[in-house]
Amino acid sequence: MSELYNIIDKKKLDVVTKPISKAHGLPNECYTNKDYTLIERKKLFEDKWVAIGVASSLPNIGDAKPYDLLDLPLLIIRNKQNKIKVFHNICSHRGVKLVHKEGKIKNVIRCPYHSWSYNFDGELIATPHIGGMNKHTHPQFNKSKSNLKEIRSYIWLDLIMVNISNNEMPFDKYIKPLSDRWSKFWKNSDRDMIKHSNDYGYFKLEAKCNWKFAIENYCESYHLPWVHPGLNSYSKIEDHYHIQGLPNRFAGQGTVVYNPRLKGKEKFPCFPNWPKNKENIAEYVALFPNVMLGIHKDHFYAYWLEPKSNDLTLEHMEIYYVGDNAANSKKFKSLRKQNFKLWEDIQKEDVDIIQGMQIGRKSNVYNGGNFSPAMDNPTHHFHKWVATNIAQ
Ligand code: FES
Ligand SMILES: [Fe+2]
Repeated sequence: MSELYNIIDKKKLDVVTKPISKAHGLPNECYTNKDYTLIERKKLFEDKWVAIGVASSLPNIGDAKPYDLLDLPLLIIRNKQNKIKVFHNICSHRGVKLVHKEGKIKNVIRCPYHSWSYNFDGELIATPHIGGMNKHTHPQFNKSKSNLKEIRSYIWLDLIMVNISNNEMPFDKYIKPLSDRWSKFWKNSDRDMIKHSNDYGYFKLEAKCNWKFAIENYCESYHLPWVHPGLNSYSKIEDHYHIQGLPNRFAGQGTVVYNPRLKGKEKFPCFPNWPKNKENIAEYVALFPNVMLGIHKDHFYAYWLEPKSNDLTLEHMEIYYVGDNAANSKKFKSLRKQNFKLWEDIQKEDVDIIQGMQIGRKSNVYNGGNFSPAMDNPTHHFHKWVATNIAQ
């Protein structure tokens, strides 16, 4: 860990894990230092379960997407058995990046350099002229040792989760505390109903700041009255509660007055098993490191982060409704449009603020932050998770 402590004074990290009234937030280097970001890529992204996309964005066999995780080249593809597979996006021969653009691949993943070709399960199936002109095999070359390197993946609520280092507990166990918590809202049959909307189901925002600010901000409701006056008019700061008691890879908040004022006489259908006495409850939980979830009686969203560098992040919002009719029919289009706009406006308000936090981190008089012992618990929770895991 000397590498880490060459970048950050150990004392500054130790103070993050103290009880909230004695703690400071993560030091500036965690937001401004590019070498630190590489340590974070390994410890917080490769060694954990992280989201890299959604399965519904690759609906057909052969649909493929390159995805660079802080410059680590990955490839997502839907194979012939209709399953999502994730590979390192590099050719086994000379290491060239295989797929550069999103799109449909017809038969094989063909390397642009010497045309070695892989099937959708990553198996190397063609090696033209490898044994000399017109000899496509060589006795000393064992094809099966040059398949693409597959990455452990799991589809959860449409999210493509990966554990690149293949070291974490199985995903269903990893997510169980949250699944158990949300079993009071929905059953498996409700979860299976979620449908991505094709028209107003996705937006992307660019935040010129470190990815962690998005999570920290998402976890707390303290900023509501000032950053989200619109939201605060129907779901006030005092209507929110912090979500605690889950293992420290989740933090968040909930509201007891979910009641958006969408115009029109239609109402979105609700999850069939959502209890009547919980209709006004909605919960917003960050699954560390990079997914922000929102669950409501009538829609669900996954807002996942794509870190590009220490000071640039893309935010992807995926919105789901209860069944295809709610997600895609004309009848609910106006409601979908309004709901989309509502979330887009709120998330843009947050982006403005978190970009300001990135600028603040250039100040060397800032000590990482002094928390409110009452209002900042979920944020402190996340800082502790980062400090503990990068030091491991
Ligand atoms: S680098 Fe891919 S075939 Fe040579
Ligand atoms: Fe916010």
